[in-house]
Amino acid sequence: MKVLVTGSSGQLGSATVTHLKAYGHAVTGIDTMPAATTDQLIDIKDKGAVDTITKGFDAIIHTAALHGKHFELNYPREAFIQTNILGTLNLLNACVANGVKKFLYTSTTSIYGEALVDKDKAVWVDETLTERPRDIYDITKQTTEQLCRDFFYKEGLQTSVYRVGRFLPEDDNLKTNHRLYRGLDERDGAEALRLALGTEFTDFEIFNISSGSPFKQEDVVQLKHSPLSAILKYYPEAEGIYKARGWAFPQSIDRVYVCDKAKRYFNYRPKYTFEYLLNS
Ligand SMILES: NC(=O)c1ccc[n+]([C@@H]2O[C@H](COP(=O)([O-])OP(=O)(O)OC[C@H]3O[C@@H](n4cnc5c(N)ncnc54)[C@H](O)[C@@H]3O)[C@@H](O)[C@H]2O)c1
Repeated sequence: MKVLVTGSSGQLGSATVTHLKAYGHAVTGIDTMPAATTDQLIDIKDKGAVDTITKGFDAIIHTAALHGKHFELNYPREAFIQTNILGTLNLLNACVANGVKKFLYTSTTSIYGEALVDKDKAVWVDETLTERPRDIYDITKQTTEQLCRDFFYKEGLQTSVYRVGRFLPEDDNLKTNHRLYRGLDERDGAEALRLALGTEFTDFEIFNISSGSPFKQEDVVQLKHSPLSAILKYYPEAEGIYKARGWAFPQSIDRVYVCDKAKRYFNYRPKYTFEYLLNS
């Protein structure tokens, strides 16, 4: 497949370029920053450049964005709207104009926002949870998801959305803890996008993409107040491994990102899970 990846110098975008190439896809990367995985320096806010570069592709995987990091750096709301909404709209319009059939959009689990807060139990976060955006980043991601939906039904473009979990740089202890309930390795993110690329959807679909979780819905109260007993129920060996590494378990687990829908729809099986990190 001929695939254009936006944000190809970034963490998820570069992993996606590398992964798709390894599977024989013909991939072109675009970004505003140079990298080995980027072929052309193009700003998605530049409508003319987007119209030109998108010709001749079967699919676009769109990872370029301003995100949490930029929010913390106090980028103005206008910047989020210009890149995340208008930049994406340029790409969607270009898909229609140039006959690109598929558009995979990477959104964020952060979009659930205030719905992630419950003082009594961990929140079970599947795609049926109603999103309650907290800030301009979430708002632009929510709006853009809806733009994707609009293009699916009104323009016949195969859009789909991937709400990815957290893959920020973290120490090994925190990273491993997060893989229990909210983390993602960008290589698993890239694999989810590869699998989705080969899947036809009859409806507009949104998927959570995380490392998965060993927990069940019956664990949510225990996870909030005393997660250790829940963790050791599934991984009794974790106690000794954590002790040997001088690690601390999470004091409370506030949410569980559930990616069962991606497992059902395109057989997503994350590799870089809590169990993987525990045993490596
Ligand atoms: N990192 C996380 O933990 C996380 C969590 C949830 C969702 N996401 C989402 O995943 C996607 C990828 O995130 P990431 O962490 O790999 O980000 P990143 O910052 O590593 O990469 C994003 C890339 O987009 C490029 N970019 C930004 N504006 C652009 C523009 N106008 N034109 C062209 N390129 C532009 C940047 O130069 C950068 O290389 C984003 O959509 C983000 O919202 C990330």
